[in-house]
Amino acid sequence: MESLIGLVNRIQRACTVLGDHGGGEGDALPTLWEALPSVAVVGGQSSGKSSVLESIVGRDFLPRGSGIVTRRPLVLQLHKTDEGQVEYAEFLHLPKRRFTDFAAVRKEIQDETDRITGKSKQISPVPIHLSIYSPKVVNLTLVDLPGLTKVAVEGQPETIVQDIENMVRSYVEKPNCIILAISPANQDIATSDAIKLGREVDPTGERTFGVLTKLDLMDKGTNALDVLEGKSYRLQHPWVGVVNRSQADINKSTDMMAARQRERDYFSSSPDYGHLSSKMGSEYLAKLLSKHLESVIRSRIPSILSLINKTIDELEAEMDHLGRPIALDSGAQLYSILEVCRAFDRIFKEHLDGGRAGGDR
Ligand code: GDP
Ligand code: NA
Ligand code: MG
Repeated sequence: MESLIGLVNRIQRACTVLGDHGGGEGDALPTLWEALPSVAVVGGQSSGKSSVLESIVGRDFLPRGSGIVTRRPLVLQLHKTDEGQVEYAEFLHLPKRRFTDFAAVRKEIQDETDRITGKSKQISPVPIHLSIYSPKVVNLTLVDLPGLTKVAVEGQPETIVQDIENMVRSYVEKPNCIILAISPANQDIATSDAIKLGREVDPTGERTFGVLTKLDLMDKGTNALDVLEGKSYRLQHPWVGVVNRSQADINKSTDMMAARQRERDYFSSSPDYGHLSSKMGSEYLAKLLSKHLESVIRSRIPSILSLINKTIDELEAEMDHLGRPIALDSGAQLYSILEVCRAFDRIFKEHLDGGRAGGDR
């Protein structure tokens, strides 16, 4: 059976094709997008968002640079494949092309960003969908968002600071959004952009996962135990500390697998964090998120199903209104969406039955 996380991502892609991505423009499936659980990566510029994503994937594939690099949401779906399979990536907008060269993936993200935003350095709410198939990943969907910032840089419109905040907010406000809040350890947690926004939209901290990056960059003689033990800022889920590649590592193209190993060694040999080492690091974070996302989706199946059925009814009514057979593109598109919804309805019900037969998880 297809994984629940994979299934939900397929609906997200269908929503994007229909122009429904929470950006407020499209009106097809207006509420379905809202109802789908997702994990949004949130943090200030240079807090380490891209680095965390790359560590989770175990690959170097995101555009880098100064200024606002991420200017469209990147919906990143990870599919775990069998050991020995070739790793590859695929974009929704290039369905026929398999990328095995991850430098080309980076280039395509950049090019596709520019295709919609122009070279104007504007931002756009229209997501880019990227799937990565690899034996080294867990099943997980993450949305990378532009970094929160306080100042526009040269060539960027003044409004960009507010535009970014509004876009990030449109994701994290959804009650079904799991917030991956990234904060650097070498800054006061009270000033973290991610935590400030998280506190506002999720005051009880029930859907926020706090990630502390740059532990290796803290001043000698200090540590982040107060944060990692939940004393500085309390969340319902435990904080996870990570050590990503430094800029020097990136310049030397330090291999991601070597970096993961070094991160493990860092925690297991740390006098400060040794006792927490089994619950630290990007691999642990990926597993934690995958498990949590799956359980959130499972708990939402009944409400997702009722929305899908409502959508099916609306689409059928619209088809009747248009009349069949329909030669128009829009009719054909509606029809294929209808088919997708029917398929979802069937597979979700199987999961629901399977879940009951197997007892509560
Ligand atoms: P983003 O703007 O939030 O996506 O941040 P990046 O992931 O691009 O990271 C910004 C800079 O911080 C890069 O030069 C990274 O190499 C560096 N960096 C991120 N995380 C860590 C970390 O845990 N340790 C060290 N030493 N550097 C880090
Ligand atoms: Na921050
Ligand atoms: Mg980034």
